[in-house]
Parts: sequence; C-alpha cells; structure tokens
Amino acid sequence: MEAQVTAHARYSLGEIDNRLYGAFLEHLGRAVYTGIYEPGHPTALPNGMRKDVIDLVRNLDVPICRYPGGNFVSAYNWEDGIGPQADRPTRLDLAWRTSESNAVGIHEFAEWAEAVGTDMMLAVNLGSRGLDAARNFVEYVNHPGGSYWSDLRRKNGRAAPWNVKLWCLGNEMDGPWQVGHKSAAEYGHLANETAKAIRAFDDKLELVVCGSSHSEMPTYPQWEATVLDESYDQIDYISLHMYFENYEKNTAEYLALPEKLDRYIGTVGGVIDYVKSKKRSKRDVKISFDEWNVWYHERKNDAKRMKEWNWPHAPVLLEDIYNFEDVLQVGCILNTFIRRSDRVRIACIAQLVNVIAPIMTEPGGAAWRQTIYHPLHLASRFGRGTALLLDVECASYTADVADRVSYLDVAGVHDSEAGWLTFFAVNRHGQEPMEINLSAERFGTIKSVEHTLIKHDDLEARNSKEQPDNVAPQQVKDKATIEGNRVRVTVPPYSYSMIRLKL
Ligand code: AHR
Repeated sequence: MEAQVTAHARYSLGEIDNRLYGAFLEHLGRAVYTGIYEPGHPTALPNGMRKDVIDLVRNLDVPICRYPGGNFVSAYNWEDGIGPQADRPTRLDLAWRTSESNAVGIHEFAEWAEAVGTDMMLAVNLGSRGLDAARNFVEYVNHPGGSYWSDLRRKNGRAAPWNVKLWCLGNEMDGPWQVGHKSAAEYGHLANETAKAIRAFDDKLELVVCGSSHSEMPTYPQWEATVLDESYDQIDYISLHMYFENYEKNTAEYLALPEKLDRYIGTVGGVIDYVKSKKRSKRDVKISFDEWNVWYHERKNDAKRMKEWNWPHAPVLLEDIYNFEDVLQVGCILNTFIRRSDRVRIACIAQLVNVIAPIMTEPGGAAWRQTIYHPLHLASRFGRGTALLLDVECASYTADVADRVSYLDVAGVHDSEAGWLTFFAVNRHGQEPMEINLSAERFGTIKSVEHTLIKHDDLEARNSKEQPDNVAPQQVKDKATIEGNRVRVTVPPYSYSMIRLKL
C-alpha cells in the first residue's frame, strides 16, 4: 500500500500549546500512595516521594498535571490535606469507596510537581461543596500572605505562594455518578458565580468549565450550549473527556474510534462558536481535553470489586495493563490532538501512575514503562512547535463510527527553531506494509532522516516488571530514501512510526 503526505511551510494550524502533553493524577487506587508517594521505598526522597517515578515522569516532560481528581474531588475537603500529617483525618472517599489518609495534600503534591518540573492544574470541589471552599483554596494556594488562608499556608511551611494559573471548576458535573451532580443550568450558574469570585481575587487566572464526560452522554451537546451560555464571559476552557475501549477485540473498529474523538472536538468547537456569536463576544474559549486514555482492560472487574470491598486504603484499582494495540490507539489519539490543536490547547492523559497509566510501580519495588508510555513520550518530546495542515492521500476502510477511515493516521509538526519536521504515523492496516511518500514543500533542504518505530508481531504484547522493554521504540537504520524535498519510508503493518526530517 502507498500513501502520499504533503506538508507545506505555509499551511499550518498554528503553534501547539505544550500543555497538549499534560497528565492527570487523582487520589484513586495506587496513583498517589505507592505510586508517587511511598515513604520507606528504597528510592524515596526525605519527603516520601519515589525518585524512580519522578525520573520516569521527568523523562516524559509533562508540562502540566491535573490534581486531585477526577470523581474524587467532588467530595474532597482540601483542608484535610494541610497541617501536620499526623493530625490529618482519614475520610471515606465516596467516588471509589476507599479510605483516604490525606497523608498527601496540596503541599506534598506541589513539592512533587516541582521535582518533576510540571505546573499544577488544580480542581475545586463543586459537587459536595461550592464557591466558598473554592475561593478559600485559591487564596491558600496563590495569595502571598496577610490573610487568614495565606497565613495558614505560611504556618504550614510554605512562605511563597505557588501561583497556580489553571483551575478546573469541578469535574464531570454532567454525570449522575458524580457526588453533587447538577443540571446544566444549575452547574453553569454555579461555575459562573465561582469563576466571578475567583476572578475578583485574580482576573489573570485561567478557568476551565466542565463539558460533557463523553460524547455518548444523553445531555451532550446541549450541556455545552447551556453551560457556556451561563459562563462564557468568565471562563477560558471547556473540559472534555473520552476513554477508548475494545471489548469486542476488533482492531479495525478500535483504531477508528479517534474519528469519533475528532467529531467530538469539532462539534464542541461549533457550540463554542455558536455561544460566542450569540453573545456577540470577542472572547475565545478553547478546549481542555483533560481526561483521555484507553480504559477497558480491568474496568468491569473493578466495578464488581468496588461494590464488594470495605473501604480499603490505596487498593489496586483501574490498573489496566496496556498492550501493543493500545500503542497504536494512543498514537492516533495524540495525532488527533495535534491536528485539532487550534481548538484543543490542553490535554491530559488519564492518568499518570498505576491508575490507567503509562507508568506502573510495585510497592517497595520496581517502576516501569507501560507500552503506551512510548508514543506519549515521543509526541511530548518531539511534537512541539507548529502543527501542520497535511494533505494526505491513502486508501481507507469503513467502520461503525465513520465511512472513510484512512489506513494512514498521520500528524506533522514543524520545529522551526531547531530545524526539524516531524511526522507521527500509524499504519492502521493489519496485513500490508505501507510506503509513505513525504513531500516537504518550502521547508528548505532535507539533510537527513530519522525513523523511530514501535512494532510488535503480537497485538497483545505487554510490558511487565520482568520484561519492561518487550514493547519499546527502536531506531530503523538506513531504510529511508531522500530525493530533493521528498522522503520515502516504508512502515510495517500495524505499526507506529516517528519520522523526523532534519532541515
Ligand atoms: O480517570 C478515572 C475517572 O474517570 C475520573 O475520576 C473521572 O473524572 C472519570 O470518569
């Protein structure tokens, strides 16, 4: 099979916001406890944070990390996580039916964020609580001193404010499963009033309002229209979530799902434009896709186990073990975000450690990369710069979610400063190799080509503590040909490639 891909220096979608490669960490299962935090672990720093995990996260170069939830935040009292650790209360977490020790709170998370070099994206509880708790939390985190909450932070050992810029106004408030779930009108009103109070404190902060939990929600996309109608003038982003499943074990259908993601982004973009026009506004609201990933491997088991257990602390929960097929899916999802980066400014893989995560840990033992770590790592490291509007010619197939799914899923990024043109390409054909003919118009001379490939003959291949590199990228040597401004690369069936042209 052959594909033609043409990139032109003048056809771009604009600068990618680095926060497209963000992540999410919730007080859920072993994400925090024995994930990032494990006093007594051989690599633990004096503050109890695992250095082995810090190193793996640093290597991903995560620009932003959303915290502390997720469903967890909708019944969370942020004040439980401050002050001497020994005095902090254990609470029942209603979202996941577990016990929360509160040993990690905002101070510990902030120290960890600094250690991994990521900015914090904090969520406030608009489920069981509301405006007052939210504005107090913002004051605690961001005010220098001289007020009740800021002085309490200082007393608790942190003199300088953290100056967190990005705040989520609740989580998935359209979901009946959410503690304190609301109708769109109720939530839109509360989000607007909370945003006004936060803006009265600091109008430079960036605020994220909840959109739909996924595009099959019965209230979608009217939810977006109502919520934006209530809050448009006060907010900067609308949040969307989507998880990908392959219960049927049908790879072609599974890998077509990013078409649905693309449509979801397009539709919500249209709703944003509709409300903007209705309000005769100049304001641009963008999308924060702050939860996305593959989530199905353990999902049904977990739902059953959760019903039966007795409020355990940090149990094994949502620990999907990813396979090679999921590498292809994550590659297509990231490509979709790059192609939609004019609308999507922030995206967070959900989640980061142990819980539906690219990084796994063993209590007291090793930390390793799951298969999906690799496409995320490559995109985060090399997918920064200008997103390109590519012309792609390739055969396609018909799937349940779309009539024409191209066998080649590809995104292109130009880093003009460093002089690289990078393509991320997934061959969605299971039997045929694909010859990709890349044409780079007006970028200057192509000096060399690098081809990084992720391929395994078994779609079910996984990484584990014993075999951490079973699925991993490899460099393909001397297989690409350069003729003027054209490059020819052949990629195997069902494979993920990063092709970089040095200019
Ligand atoms: O990431 C797991 C859960 O998925 C989050 O807590 C929630 O926001 C979503 O439904």
